Amino acid sequence: MRTDYCGLIDKKYLGQTVTVKGWAHRRRDHGGVIFIDLRDREGLVQVVIDPDTPEAFRLADSSRNEYVLAITGIVRERPAGTANSKMISGEIEILAKEIEILNSAATPPFQIDDENISENVRLLNRVIDLRRAPMQKNLRLRYRVAMGVRNHLDKQGFIDIETPMLTRSTPEGARDYLVPSRVHPGEFFALPQSPQLFKQLLMVAGFDRYYQITKCFRDEDLRADRQPEFTQIDIETSFLNEDEIMDITENMAQEIFRDVMNVELGKFPRMTYNDAMFYYGSDKPDLRVSLKFTELTDLMKTEEFKVFRGAADLPNGRVVALRVPGGAAISRKEIDEYTQFVGIYGAKGLAYIKVNDKSKITNDETSGLQSPIVKFLSVAALEEIMARTGADNGDIIFFGADKAKIVNEAIGALRIKIGHERGEKDGYFVREWRPLWVVDFPMFEHDEEADRWTACHHPFTSPKPGHEDLMDTDPGACLARAYDMVLNGWEIGGGSVRIHRADVQEKVFAALKITPEEQQNKFGFLLDNLKFGAPPHGGLAFGLDRLVTLMAGAESIRDVIAFPKTQRAQCLLTNAPNAVDDKQLRELNLRLRQKAEPAA
Ligand code: AMO
Ligand code: AMP
Repeated sequence: MRTDYCGLIDKKYLGQTVTVKGWAHRRRDHGGVIFIDLRDREGLVQVVIDPDTPEAFRLADSSRNEYVLAITGIVRERPAGTANSKMISGEIEILAKEIEILNSAATPPFQIDDENISENVRLLNRVIDLRRAPMQKNLRLRYRVAMGVRNHLDKQGFIDIETPMLTRSTPEGARDYLVPSRVHPGEFFALPQSPQLFKQLLMVAGFDRYYQITKCFRDEDLRADRQPEFTQIDIETSFLNEDEIMDITENMAQEIFRDVMNVELGKFPRMTYNDAMFYYGSDKPDLRVSLKFTELTDLMKTEEFKVFRGAADLPNGRVVALRVPGGAAISRKEIDEYTQFVGIYGAKGLAYIKVNDKSKITNDETSGLQSPIVKFLSVAALEEIMARTGADNGDIIFFGADKAKIVNEAIGALRIKIGHERGEKDGYFVREWRPLWVVDFPMFEHDEEADRWTACHHPFTSPKPGHEDLMDTDPGACLARAYDMVLNGWEIGGGSVRIHRADVQEKVFAALKITPEEQQNKFGFLLDNLKFGAPPHGGLAFGLDRLVTLMAGAESIRDVIAFPKTQRAQCLLTNAPNAVDDKQLRELNLRLRQKAEPAA
């Protein structure tokens, strides 16, 4: 019988006989004595095997990395000078008396403690990868967060109700994963993009407080913070307004951070969507970086410089400055790199002014301002730029001029990049937790390509009181009762107060150009049930994967998911998705269209 976990044996055990079971992490032959670091989920312990115990020695000698061993021995102090203060078991070792090989192991594809393995190799060999200490730690952290959520919500009277995986499409703005029905040829289920409509129907059904930790499926372009299947902490309540729902979920986030991380998040500030875009160019600002945009659109409408004037005159154009304190030290080469970086977001260039001596402002290149663009700007404009940005000698000011969307994305990303790279040294980045609520989102976004309005959150979100009529007259000005929880530049949760009246819901569908027939066909079950006395209701969903990624300090959400998909939406371990045989297709009444010729 195992008496203890390897990683937990410390000096208190000196002189005791213990039995440990685990994997041979490392084996070293020190001429006559063999050392094995045995690993289990709690960590490592050093085992010494002496030739005086011949049978144990023979078995240790034939063991290799990742063999599964049971070892019984006596705990003793490590010889002076060999202790390792970083490990719980670092001051002791086990002198083996008996060894049993429980299983052998093929040579693993990589050393378990090698930190320089490519992600593809890790995902291909995910089981071995999961043996690594950081992965063990991340998944245990994830479990503690999930348990914290369950405990907290249970205390608050929420109950967990499961909702279907085989369902109808829920529009959350992504493509659906479809599942063909065998029983109903030619018909399909959709995997849920979220439980949104079911949780609303549970409110109509009178459950009052619902939650679920559940999988959601979205076929969308993947990034570091997105997976095709991911987990939401999904919450819905009846009879509460947005302030009350934000309070409940903020308290939960605070409690989880307190219990799991020993961190006090404090009260979350609130920022309107408009302010977030105005100052940070993003609806999920990373407030650890204190740099802000300075608006110059109005100023550039009367300047000659084409690059700025052209953007300022566009109906949806924007010109902004980003002042970086101490940035005059940024080299030409680095500026070129930043210019390439903003290019990723569609920016056509990155104008800048280095402020060497602001007492000498002229539009001559040899003045106190070092810049390829000062010669194109009036002295009045240069002075106004200095005043608005509050620039000091030694600063650099970057400029973005284009459609607002491009400026916001490009300069917003530059703000984060420079903030993270240089901000700690120059005092505009703090290594802390900076949560906030972003509120007053617009109801609708204009899709320029399709020339139509789409829902900013989802089409079940209520307009702000008094904004209902704007849906017809000025959809772009109509605000929603929606809110996002943002932490260190990541959207970790989003929600809204819902529409609980069928007539308002029909109006929103109409604004989205969903015809009455389509409404009835796709959402009849919602509209019909809203008519049976739906209570006012609302909620929020956290992205559990994102939350845990931040808490773990991991680079990507794939590091907190046991079996994630790659950026190309594949599972390398199981090699899914995969082709299926004709028989299966026939049963499902499906025939594949001819495969496209591979691109030349
Ligand atoms: P939303 O679409 O904002 O809202 O999703 C809620 C949260 O889920 C996380 N998230 C993701 N995480 C990983 N991979 C993805 N592909 C992904 N997509 C979203 C984000 C996000 O904040 N039904 C509404 C919630 C509501 O209104 O109550 C919804 O799904 O952290
Ligand atoms: P050009 O006149 O194209 O040589 O550009 C002059 C300066 O403006 C260069 O430093 C460019 O990097 C910069 N620039 C060009 N287009 C933009 C833009 N859309 N936004 C910001 N800076 C730009």
